[in-house]
Amino acid sequence: MSYETILVETRGPVGLITLNRPKALNALCDQLVTELGRALDDFEADSAIGAIVVTGSERAFAAGADIKEMAGFSYMDVYNSNFITAKWERLAKCRKPTIAAVAGFALGGGCELAMMADFILAADTAKFGQPEVTIGTIPGAGGTQRLTRFVGKSKAMEMVLTGRMIDAAEAERCGLVSRIVPAAELVEEAVKVATKIASLSQPVIAMAKEAVNVAYESTLAEGIRFERRLFHSTFATEDQKEGMAAFAEKRQPGWKNR
Ligand code: HXC
Repeated sequence: MSYETILVETRGPVGLITLNRPKALNALCDQLVTELGRALDDFEADSAIGAIVVTGSERAFAAGADIKEMAGFSYMDVYNSNFITAKWERLAKCRKPTIAAVAGFALGGGCELAMMADFILAADTAKFGQPEVTIGTIPGAGGTQRLTRFVGKSKAMEMVLTGRMIDAAEAERCGLVSRIVPAAELVEEAVKVATKIASLSQPVIAMAKEAVNVAYESTLAEGIRFERRLFHSTFATEDQKEGMAAFAEKRQPGWKNR
């Protein structure tokens, strides 16, 4: 499939998607969000792909939804089309593990898109923010909800109400990103982490991902129950037998993805 606003490649078992509208700092226009969804569909359908990395450029992961595209929309335009934010959820709904590798600006919808990945690896140049109020709107792709769950009410409120950007160090301190790496090594490191994940049992990884995600959508008691059911389910896989036998026999496991 050919794309105009993203670059799509594979690195071994890793699908790598690079947002690629450099002149607009990767502003997330409808075409880009549609193409991103298609690339995710393809990687999800490809059994050779075990994890997906989404990244941008050195200057910007994405500077938000495309302000020039949405400036003239009416209420009925955005309501009738469920304005693109429904399409954005494609990344959040991906069953395979996803990593957002963020350098430079991740603002507005760019920050929201990064938060839809399973975790964010940040370059030391990364800057995160929800500046929507400064252009007369509010976050519309989960920013008020996901950011609050990541960083807590106080910092989320400050960021959403003022539009203040936080740098990579502050993002790491408040738990928005898993860790910081030098900008020059960002993509390489993200692919390395994704390769590690892809080398494990895919169904077990999918269960682990599902269980962590339930923590965001349930009470602790419900989450613990859900985790226990999935934990028990792993004992129905061939890979649990293989993994534990390999440990006992002091050898590397040969995963069957079953
Ligand atoms: C469209 C954008 C853009 C955006 C940057 N550009 N951000 N175009 N939508 N979100 C374009 C600029 O117009 C400019 O194009 C080029 O990218 C370079 O940007 P500059 O502003 O010249 O760069 P710089 O001075 O370095 O400033 C970088 C910046 C600034 C701080 C990131 O561009 C900025 O504030 N951008 C908007 C950030 C924002 O408000 N994001 C939230 C959007 S609302 P030209 O043609 O002039 O060279 C949102 C809602 C999501 O995301 C809700 C779900 C849909």
